Amino acid sequence: MARGYFITFEGLDGSGKTTQLRRLTAWLEAQSHKVITLRQPGGTALGDRIRSILLDSRSESTLGAISPLAEMALMFADRAQAIHEIILPALESGAIVLCDRYTDSSEAYQGGGRQLGSERILAMHRAVCDNLQPDLTLLLLPSLESSLARARRRNQRNAKQKGTDENRFERENDAFYHRVYEAYETIANRESNRVVAIRNDASIEDIHRQICEVVSSRIPVLVS
Ligand code: TYD
Repeated sequence: MARGYFITFEGLDGSGKTTQLRRLTAWLEAQSHKVITLRQPGGTALGDRIRSILLDSRSESTLGAISPLAEMALMFADRAQAIHEIILPALESGAIVLCDRYTDSSEAYQGGGRQLGSERILAMHRAVCDNLQPDLTLLLLPSLESSLARARRRNQRNAKQKGTDENRFERENDAFYHRVYEAYETIANRESNRVVAIRNDASIEDIHRQICEVVSSRIPVLVS
């Protein structure tokens, strides 16, 4: 059976990637493609437990603050399980896998944001993920200012609705997100074949159209 196709979505919190992933899923399914979606951290039973440790701010009170290296290791434990349980079997069955965040997030957030450096993240990726690379990465990079504003609004909404601060957003300062943004820029420049950066603040519809064009050109049988 032909190997499927592995696409990841990347960007800052609030970059709109989750909406775009849903739109692309619908578009591919309308063309009768088998699509498997997942998000990181999360997606497996182990991953969901890791996610709640990482993202539920309440865990801080019981566990104490998670150190940057422990955070990195947990992200990779989650990823290794997702590769084993979901991503490789799906690719082997010929499916298109759409993953909301992958190792570029670790490089941007832990490597850049937490200043652990890219080398350590890439070495972890080789060791723990068998260096499994996406065929295509869609990096949504609207301006830093608009991403931050959107993420803050979402965080306030979540806090009101669920009484939680799940995405930890307010706890990171602007300098952190500047470093994350710059790390994403570095990755896009370094791996320009794999990573397609969409930098504008266009409408959801326009960006969806751009993404469909990129995906069609990468997978010739997907011409819409
Ligand atoms: P999530 O609620 O999924 O946010 P988003 O919709 O923006 O993806 O939270 C994921 C958070 O975890 C986000 O702030 C990025 C962070 N993260 C890392 O720091 N390293 C990683 O390797 C991954 C996958 C995510």
